[in-house]
Amino acid sequence: MDFGIKNRLSRIFNPKTGKTVMLAVDHGYFQGPTTGLRDMKNVIPLVPYADSLFVTRGVLRNCIDPKTDTSICLRVSGGPSILGELTNEDITTSMEEAIRLNASGVGMSIFVGAPNEDRTIANLGRLVNEAERYGMPVLAITAVGKDMARDARYLGLACRIAAEIGAHFVKTYYCDDFHKVVEGCPVPVVIAGGKKIPETDALQMTEDAIKAGASGVDMGRNIFQSDNPVGMIKAVRAIVHKGASAKEALEIYKKR
Ligand code: R5P
Repeated sequence: MDFGIKNRLSRIFNPKTGKTVMLAVDHGYFQGPTTGLRDMKNVIPLVPYADSLFVTRGVLRNCIDPKTDTSICLRVSGGPSILGELTNEDITTSMEEAIRLNASGVGMSIFVGAPNEDRTIANLGRLVNEAERYGMPVLAITAVGKDMARDARYLGLACRIAAEIGAHFVKTYYCDDFHKVVEGCPVPVVIAGGKKIPETDALQMTEDAIKAGASGVDMGRNIFQSDNPVGMIKAVRAIVHKGASAKEALEIYKKR
């Protein structure tokens, strides 16, 4: 890996802990004004607590303070909406744009076992080819269709394929036997939070994922849809970077 990729990755993964708390706020790219993100002003107080913001260029340009210290990981895929065929994604944002926006990484989804798996995986390969020319790390997101099992066998398959195609890190969902997913993937794995669940459960999932070898989170709804989003991101940080237990983190979440 060259200096540029390593240097950008160190803006996403805290060099002191080797882990990351990414705040995912890209949901609008196919869901429109998602609960909690309708007014992006709600996100602003959370940004300083994130190592990296996972965001589209549209929200970045219009809603985020360019003076932020938080690094940017840019979602560069899209196409379909929730009303269409979700797997039908392509690359929507150029590498030139990612560099102009001073992104520290770019991310796109692949749809393993779904209608457009071959095209989305080939697109990942093309994105990696281009990104490596400019020293830009690529995050592959293993999107899971409604009918797919979220188990270690399937998620392990999807993560391994993403790494084999060249992704520098991978985002997937937590599952039982998550250590098997991590062990089978030669690049860092971070977890998405998924649908909103009670804070206690989301914090327990974070603790379990870190213990199983996850390199952090790229979490959205379980932070910005919480009744105390700042408390929640601080709590998640404590688990990821300080090795706090879910029980200890819950006390941080409860503080107003
Ligand atoms: C999908 O909409 C995006 O890739 C999200 O960034 C990802 O699912 C993480 O967000 P959440 O924690 O809400 O699942």
